[in-house]
Amino acid sequence: MNREDFLMLNEDIIYFDNGATSLKPKILAEITSDYYNKYSANAHRGDYDISLKVDEMYENTRELVKKFINAKKSKEIIFTSGTTDSLNKIIFGYFKYYLKENDEVLLTKSEHASNVLPWFELADILKLKIKYIDLDENLNLTIENLKKIITNKTKVISLAIITNVAGDIRPMKEIIKIAHENNILVIGDGAQSVAHTKTDVQDLDIDFLAFSAHKMYGPTGVGVLYGKEELLNNIRPIIFGGGMNATYSSDEVRVYSDLPYLLEAGTQNIAGVIGFGKIIEYLNNIGMEKIEKYELSLKKYAIEKLKEVKDIVIINENTESAIITFNIKDIFAQDLAIYLNKYNICVRAGNHCSKILKEEIGIKNTCRASLSFYNTKEEVDRFIEVLKNPKIKEEII
Ligand code: ALA
Repeated sequence: MNREDFLMLNEDIIYFDNGATSLKPKILAEITSDYYNKYSANAHRGDYDISLKVDEMYENTRELVKKFINAKKSKEIIFTSGTTDSLNKIIFGYFKYYLKENDEVLLTKSEHASNVLPWFELADILKLKIKYIDLDENLNLTIENLKKIITNKTKVISLAIITNVAGDIRPMKEIIKIAHENNILVIGDGAQSVAHTKTDVQDLDIDFLAFSAHKMYGPTGVGVLYGKEELLNNIRPIIFGGGMNATYSSDEVRVYSDLPYLLEAGTQNIAGVIGFGKIIEYLNNIGMEKIEKYELSLKKYAIEKLKEVKDIVIINENTESAIITFNIKDIFAQDLAIYLNKYNICVRAGNHCSKILKEEIGIKNTCRASLSFYNTKEEVDRFIEVLKNPKIKEEII
């Protein structure tokens, strides 16, 4: 659906790497170019018309994001440079001061590097214990396994809402309920979920959420850190400078700004934030339920077709998002991706920044096709036809 909005889809490519980044509808370049050509002033710093217009548009995006994820207040929406930045700000700005020695942090082996490495670093500093919730045979996180691992030392659970390789959708509402009954805070990594499924932070009762605009048809270099106001009131900035202070003097006395500006030091990616607002309106016009339903049906179609391919190994046949991770026996994943590229089919190969998942699945490298609402059954058919090529192994060698 909506293929006409994406100029790159005229280029005869089949783009199945939406998990890495999505394509951008042409309205993004239009609004970004308007900003640069017509009113490219700074935000929150000027008292003249074009600067005030920038303030208004920048804050309008915050309002749109607030509604999009159903946050209570706009001050709970902080603009960052992406999910990685958001997670680092949460972990080093909040949990560094909240956790203490021997506290336990729960992750899984499916988590992306951005939700693992900051924890390793903090664990070194505070002497925390990192524990991994077991996954079941379909790579799902089960409530049973969660309950088994919680102790009175567990203080935080940090999880992708949809994982980027297994593509499983976590039962976040239930996880959060159990966590809160045990005084545990929950961070959601929404990088792979927010563009593909409806997000309601109040309904989930989630404590923190991180996501990126570029995986949701928006610009690179823009992300969101959501936190409940009462938690954000205790977060400390990890970046200091202009825009986040009310005053300071040579005796080192300083007064910092209120949320959300406290966490937005320096000139932000203004064009990106304004463009992101347009993208949220664009997604609202299509409807997240419609997107979710379409992508899931396309994924199911692709899985059934993929099963017809000789020597196929599907890693995540039974997970519910639009991510399909696979290999063909005796073909190295990167070689397969390069082969598909010859036919203008873009997939990702490797470990997809989730380098501990191999300890769970025993496979280091995989190919990943991650679908979007603009992908079609015809594209899937072409992909399968190329994979069924009886000369595939000869062409790769
Ligand atoms: N995190 C992105 C991916 O999964 C880059 O491909």
